[in-house]
Amino acid sequence: MTHILAIDQGTTSSRAILFDAGLKVVSSAQQEFPQHYPQPGWVEHDPADLWATVAATTRAAIEKSGLPARDIAAIGITNQRETTLLWDRATGHPLHNAIVWQDRRTADTCTALKDAGHEAMITARTGLLLDPYFSGTKLKWLLDTIPNARARARAGELAFGTVDSYLIWNLTGGRTHATDATNAARTLLYNIAEGRWDADICALLDIPMQLLPDVRDSSADFGLTRADLFGHEIPILGVAGDQQAATVGQACFQPGMMKSTYGTGCFALLNTGDKMVPSKNRLLTTIAYQLDGKPTYALEGSIFIAGAVVQWLRDGLKIIRDARETQPLAEAADPAQDVVLVPAFTGLGAPYWRPDCRGAVYGLNRNSGPAELARAALESVGYQTRDLLEAMRADWGVAAEGILRVDGGMTASDWAMQFLSDILGAAVDRPVITETTALGAAYLAGLKAGICPTPAEFQKSWALQRQFLPQMSASTRDAKYARWTRAVAATMTV
Ligand code: G3P
Repeated sequence: MTHILAIDQGTTSSRAILFDAGLKVVSSAQQEFPQHYPQPGWVEHDPADLWATVAATTRAAIEKSGLPARDIAAIGITNQRETTLLWDRATGHPLHNAIVWQDRRTADTCTALKDAGHEAMITARTGLLLDPYFSGTKLKWLLDTIPNARARARAGELAFGTVDSYLIWNLTGGRTHATDATNAARTLLYNIAEGRWDADICALLDIPMQLLPDVRDSSADFGLTRADLFGHEIPILGVAGDQQAATVGQACFQPGMMKSTYGTGCFALLNTGDKMVPSKNRLLTTIAYQLDGKPTYALEGSIFIAGAVVQWLRDGLKIIRDARETQPLAEAADPAQDVVLVPAFTGLGAPYWRPDCRGAVYGLNRNSGPAELARAALESVGYQTRDLLEAMRADWGVAAEGILRVDGGMTASDWAMQFLSDILGAAVDRPVITETTALGAAYLAGLKAGICPTPAEFQKSWALQRQFLPQMSASTRDAKYARWTRAVAATMTV
């Protein structure tokens, strides 16, 4: 009983990673699954795909390790957050596809709630803003749209969950309907100051509270897996949303520590300790992790398009075949051109929150080509991170002067990380282990299982692979960032 299995159910793929007791990777498996875009701005996942890819990758990781399932002491789950599922408690069947966090279909509902003056109350209680990003209005849409759903919900026949809850339900054969505080904090329905579902917000959105899962610590008992799944009942002992798990995996346990993860989107979290810091600059206040009933809070900046902009170069423009090609292209770009790409493909997240906005490219001339677009794509990720850090500095004081710990696929690009450091004017630290999301989930489960050390000890094992320091002159940095700011402003007026 010495190993820990992390399940990382992300926006485009599901992964399972088996760690040993020292949190070294033993084996892993990954599977992508289809994205569904039924209408412009709508994004759905088939729940059957989420479950099938999780079950298959989990089995594959165990098989590859050659270990019997009984050697696995605990499972930790981490997941794409906010994505909303509704299922039948009797059969386990979902009533609809999962509505993905990127989905904008409830933009009008959010505007109407804002116009009716509800945002201040919702922000004070949940730390979030009225944006379609969060689960609450997506769940309302499901209940408004599926015939009889609200009546069935009132009768206690249905269950709502974010992806973690749905996986726990399936892994435990319907014995546990639960979530952790970090995932609950993304639903728009959870009062993060008081640590409970908020009856007033549920009433406002007409959401019967019988639907809601039990909220537990991030390191807690979530039940045993069905014996027939892996040949042995394995306890689920850790759960956290993927960005929060990455915060744990990056050992950002002290107030003032900050990480930024570059996956499909980019999410920067600044640990604010036991203080729930309200943002004056359109950031989110959220729960970084909850241990022993005590929440640790964070300020979060959420950008919807980061790695996804590289996917667009590959799948949309078809100017690269592999993400790794962006770096040599960016290096070859004409220094005399300053093409700016605002990748508002699914609207703009923090600090703008404009679900209606769409992407734009500025500064094209006849010589602009794949190299200039690739450079603009990588630079857009740096500029957006700077937007977040500007807001964090204004809310928290010293944050942007400090060090940013980075992880996620895009951090493999030295060029992108150097530009990030240049445009932030701050140190960017890339750790040895960039699998921080899975590591964080494994750590939370291992902590509950008694295998992993205390946070103070775990933090000592964080190791730097490379530090990027600013090389750009302050005047170039300021001029480039000012151009980006103008480009965003122009994009928001179109
Ligand atoms: O809030 C959405 C976020 O959790 C998705 O993360 O890694 O799937 O882009 P990722």
